[in-house]
Amino acid sequence: MPLVAQRSLRRYIVLLFIVAIVLYYILFSRHSTSPSSSAADSLSSERPNLASEYIKPEQHGAGQLETVLHVDRALLQQREREARRRQIDLKYCGRDRCQFVLPVAITEQESKAQEHFRHLAFLSGALDRTIVLPNVHSSHLGACRHFPFSFYYDNAWLNNNRRFFRYLTMEDFRDWISERREIDAIPTSRELTIDINPNFKFLDNANNCFKDLLDYSSYPPTHFTLEDPEMFSKRVGNYTEMLLEAFQQNQEDVDVISLFYDRRFGYIEHPEVEIPLPYNNRWEQLADQIAEQLQPFVAIHWRMERLEALDNLVPCAESLVRKIHEIESIHQQPLKVFLLTDYPHLLRTSKATPESMSFKLNELQQQHHDAIQYLYEHVDVTVTTLQRKNQPVPYDELPAKNWNVITVPPYAKPADPSVLGIVDKLVAMRAQYFLAGEPGVCAKSSSFTKRIMLEREAAFNAGDPQIVVPVDTFSL
Ligand SMILES: *[C@@H]1O[C@H](CO)[C@@H](O)[C@H](O)[C@H]1NC(C)=O
Repeated sequence: MPLVAQRSLRRYIVLLFIVAIVLYYILFSRHSTSPSSSAADSLSSERPNLASEYIKPEQHGAGQLETVLHVDRALLQQREREARRRQIDLKYCGRDRCQFVLPVAITEQESKAQEHFRHLAFLSGALDRTIVLPNVHSSHLGACRHFPFSFYYDNAWLNNNRRFFRYLTMEDFRDWISERREIDAIPTSRELTIDINPNFKFLDNANNCFKDLLDYSSYPPTHFTLEDPEMFSKRVGNYTEMLLEAFQQNQEDVDVISLFYDRRFGYIEHPEVEIPLPYNNRWEQLADQIAEQLQPFVAIHWRMERLEALDNLVPCAESLVRKIHEIESIHQQPLKVFLLTDYPHLLRTSKATPESMSFKLNELQQQHHDAIQYLYEHVDVTVTTLQRKNQPVPYDELPAKNWNVITVPPYAKPADPSVLGIVDKLVAMRAQYFLAGEPGVCAKSSSFTKRIMLEREAAFNAGDPQIVVPVDTFSL
C-alpha cells in the first residue's frame, strides 16, 4: 500500500474514534439528565462506578440523586457481601463455594452406622460436596447428637482418604454457619430422606436441630426410597449412580443437603470403604490396660437380644464352658473369660441397666438369667461397667466370685454408656482366643462380632503373637 493512502487511512481511523467518543458523551449525558428510574437502574447496574463519577449533583433533583445512590449502595453491598461470602467459604472449604452433606440422622448402631458414614463420605466426594462429621452418642451417629465425632473416633481413616472426599468438623461447620449468618448470607438447605421403605419408622424421631440455622424456604424436602438386598446380584441398577442422582435431583445449587438416612448395606465399590474407622486413642489405651490385666484370656461375644430359641440358652452356656475348658487344656493354663454381652453386666442387682439401647430389661427371661448364671458358676468371668460418680458397683449384690467388674471412666458428662461397647470390642480384639455364639442357634448375628473377627484375622495374618485363635464359635 502506498504511503499516502496509509496515512489518510490512519487519519480516518483517528477521526472515527473521536466521533465515537463525542457520540458516547452525548448519549451518556442524555441518560443522566433525564433519568427514568429504570434507565438509572440499568445504567448503574452495568457501570456503577462510571455512573457515580459522571452524575453532577447540581444538575439533579435531590430525590433522583438519592435513588441512584441508593441503588448503587445496595449493589455495592451485595457485591461486598458476595466477596465476603467467598472469603468465608474459602476459609472453611478451601474453595470459592462451600457445599455440604450434613448427616442429620443415620440409622443403626455404631458398627453399622459408621459403615454407612464411610459410604456417605465417599458419596459426598463423588458429589463434590464436603461431608460434615456427624456427632455421636448412645451408639448412634447424627448431626444433633451430644458429643463430637472425635469422642468416638480418630481422624486417621478420614485423612488417609483425603483424595476421595473432603470433610469438616461439626464445630467448624457451625462456625461457618455463624459467619455466613453474620453477613446475612444464610446458607440454603434441603432435607433429603433416603430410606429402604417409606413405612419404616426408624427416622421418625430424628429431629433436625439445624432447622432455624439454615434457610430451608427455597427447597421443599425430598424423599427417595430404594430397597436394599444384601446380595449385590439382586440389586437392579447401579446403586452408587442411583443414590448420586437422588442427591442431585436438579438441585445441585443448594448449599447444604440435610440428610436423613436409613439403609442396611453399602454400595461404594472401593477397598478403603471397608476399612473401619479407628477409635479415639483414649479408648485404645483403656483397652490396652484392661487386656493387660486379663492376659491370657478368652473373649466371648454373646448377643442374646431377640434370639428366638430361648431354650437353647442354657445348653449353649454348657457347650461354651466345655469349649473354654478345652482351650485351657490346650493352653495348659487357666484363662480368664472376658464377656461381651447385651445381658446386664451388673446382673440382677438394683443398679442393673440394659447394655444395649434396644434390649429392654423386661425382655429378659429366666433362660437368659440361667445361662449367665451357669457361666459364672463354671468359669472366671470379667465384664466392664461404666464408672459412675456416687454410684459404686454393688459388689455385695453380685456373686462372691467369678464375676469381676472393671469400671471404665466415661470421659464425658453426662456419660454415654455406649462407650462400653467400643472398649469391649477393643479388648476383644486383644484377646488370645475369641468365641462367638453361633447365629440363630446360640446368639444373634451381629456386625459387632464381624468387626472383631475381621480385625483379629488381620492381626493374626500379620503375625501378631497375641492372637492364638482369631475366631471360633460355640454352638449346641
Ligand atoms: C457404578 O457406578 C459407579 C459410579 O459411576 C462406578 O464407579 C461403578 O464402577 C459402577 N458399578 C458397576 C458394577 O457398574
